[in-house]
Amino acid sequence: MIKFLDLIKQDKNIHKSALKKISKLFKKGDFILGKEVELFEKNFSKFCGSKYAVGCANGTDALTLALKSLNLPKNSEVLIPAMTYCSTAFAVIEANLIPVLVDTEKLSSTIDLKHLQKKITNNTKVIMPVHLYGSTANLRKIKKIISKKKIYLIDDCSQAHGAFDDSDPNKRKIGSTTDISCFSLYPGKNLGAYGDAGIITTNSLNFYLKLKKLRNLGSEKKFIHDFVGLNSRLDTIQAIILNEKLKNLTFYNKKRQKIAKFYNKNINNKKIKKLKYSKSCVYHQYVILVNNRKNLIKIFDKKKIQYGFHYPYAIHQLNVFKKKFKNQRFKNAEILAKKSISLPIDPNLSKKELNYIIKTLNEF
Ligand SMILES: Cc1ncc(COP(=O)(O)O)c(C=O)c1O
Repeated sequence: MIKFLDLIKQDKNIHKSALKKISKLFKKGDFILGKEVELFEKNFSKFCGSKYAVGCANGTDALTLALKSLNLPKNSEVLIPAMTYCSTAFAVIEANLIPVLVDTEKLSSTIDLKHLQKKITNNTKVIMPVHLYGSTANLRKIKKIISKKKIYLIDDCSQAHGAFDDSDPNKRKIGSTTDISCFSLYPGKNLGAYGDAGIITTNSLNFYLKLKKLRNLGSEKKFIHDFVGLNSRLDTIQAIILNEKLKNLTFYNKKRQKIAKFYNKNINNKKIKKLKYSKSCVYHQYVILVNNRKNLIKIFDKKKIQYGFHYPYAIHQLNVFKKKFKNQRFKNAEILAKKSISLPIDPNLSKKELNYIIKTLNEF
C-alpha cells in the first residue's frame, strides 16, 4: 500500500525526546498553557518572523478568534474563497459576520483577484485569502487593492506552514506579512500536533494582547474577565510535540517540494491537468485535475495507491450553505470540487513508489 501520509514514519525521530518531556510534565502537572506553550509561541513566531504568536485549541478557533479581535460591526462582510475547508466560512459565521464567496483562479487553488475586486462593497471589512495546498495567494496585490480602504487582511495559513510570501518584496514568510495569520495544527498538517491545536501570529501588539485574552475566556489574570471570550487554550502536551516537530518542518517541506517537482516533471498524460502553484509552495497537497475521476479512483484502489479530495464540495455546495448561496456559481471552485484528486504527498515516499504512482498515472 502506498500511503497518502505516514505520520508514524515521519515522526519516528521525535518520539523518544517528546516522551521524555511528557513524562516530566506528568510529574509537574502544568497541563494547560504551560511553559512549553509559551516556548512554542516564541519558537513559532521566530520561525515565521512575526512579532507575536498565540496558541489556541484548533485552526477553526484561530480564525474565529482573529475575526472577533477586530471588533467589527455585526453584518460586516468577509471575503473568502469559494474553495476552502468549511472552517474558513464557519469562523466568519461564528464571529457574527457575513461570508462572501469569491471564485478561485483558473487552474490554481488561490482566490481570483479580479473577482475579488468586484465583490468588495462598503460593508467589506476583511479579506481572508487561504493558501490552499500550501500555495500562497498574492498578498501584495490584495494589499494594493485594499490600500485606500479600511479593510483588514487575515490569511488562513492552515496549509502553508513554512511557505514564503512570494509576493513580498522582502521575501518574508507566511505568518508575518498580514494583519493576523491563522494556522491549524491538526495532525495531518505540514506542522501538526497529536490532537487538535492551532496558532495565530501577528505583528500588532494591540491584536496580540486582545487575542491572548480572547482565547482564555476574556481573561489574562485568574478571575479577571474583561470580555466574553472562548475557551480555546493550547494543551502543554501538544506544545511539547509541536516544539519537537517544528525542528523538522523545513526539512520535510523541502522533501514535499522535491516530490512535487518530480510529479511536475514526470506526469505526462493529456487526460491530466496540472495546477499552478506559488514559487515557494510547501505542497500540503499535490492536486491534479481529471475528467473521469471515478475511473482513476478505481485504478488507484486496485493498485493500492491512497489518494484524497481537497475538497469534493465547494463552500456553496455544502448542505449547510446550499440555501444561503442559492443561484451563485463559482466556476473554477466547482471544477476543483468535481475533478480534483490529491496524490500521495508523504515526505518519505521513495523514488520507487513515486515511479509506480507516475507509471499508473501515465498509463491511465
Ligand atoms: C484551510 C483550512 N482552514 C481551516 C482549517 C481548520 O482547522 P482545524 O481542523 O484545526 O480546526 C483547516 C484544517 O483542516 C484548513 O485546511
